[in-house]
Amino acid sequence: MAPNSSLARILVSVLNSREAEWEKLSRVLHDEVGQVLSAVGLQLDVLRLDFENRVPEIASRTAEIQAILEEAITRVRDLSLDLSPGIAERIGLQASLERLVTRHGRSFPGTICVRYEENLQIPAELTGTLYKIAEQALENAIMHARCTSINVSVRSAPGGILLEVVDNGVGFSLSETRAQGLGLGLALMEYYSSLRGLQLEISSTNGTGTSVQVVCPQRTRRGKRVEMGRGKLQLKATAE
Ligand SMILES: Nc1ncnc2c1ncn2[C@@H]1O[C@H](COP(=O)(O)OP(=O)(O)O)[C@@H](O)[C@H]1O
Ligand SMILES: [Mg+2]
Repeated sequence: MAPNSSLARILVSVLNSREAEWEKLSRVLHDEVGQVLSAVGLQLDVLRLDFENRVPEIASRTAEIQAILEEAITRVRDLSLDLSPGIAERIGLQASLERLVTRHGRSFPGTICVRYEENLQIPAELTGTLYKIAEQALENAIMHARCTSINVSVRSAPGGILLEVVDNGVGFSLSETRAQGLGLGLALMEYYSSLRGLQLEISSTNGTGTSVQVVCPQRTRRGKRVEMGRGKLQLKATAE
């Protein structure tokens, strides 16, 4: 799919409205459900203070309920954050990737590792794009690769900063997939990277696995991006 085709634009506007719904849901969970649970906790405290002279065991009983409430509040906050489309901008690329991997790791029988080099200067406006590409690549590895191991890494490389998602699964033919019409995930990865002028490279070898790589520029000390050639997009499949 050509990145600027009308189909891509429709796709992205559908996704944007889906993200807006998630954002709303995330806010309701955080602001409303979270607040109600916190208010229940405060009421319990009041109840304990009112009755602790007359009912000595009330302190331990309310503490048990408080612990359950704390757990519920933590879960609601976690869910709210995970649902937020702006999670990478909010908590940073490293923390958001670690959360993503932890979430997927619960149902994936193999190993998923995240390696994140320290002191990388990633331009703030690119963290969301990198996260979305990693999300699609990781979901594909889990759903399609039948792999035992997935490595997600972010590190410096000759052309800038490299985000890589590699699996040791069955691999696939990109040209065949392309001929049949790219799926949503591959099309999105292409589209997101081309919008930002990032280099995307997908290499897949039947029987050996798949690697998705995207290179982004380093942020300079003064906070500016180092400019790269526009729209350099490379898709490579080695097993045809
Ligand atoms: N890591 C991978 N390992 C094996 N096959 C893959 C991988 N990534 C993508 N594919 C293949 O490419 C197809 C298209 O992927 P994608 O565009 O993300 O769409 P979807 O995941 O909705 O099928 C998948 O259906 C699968 O056949
Ligand atoms: Mg997919």
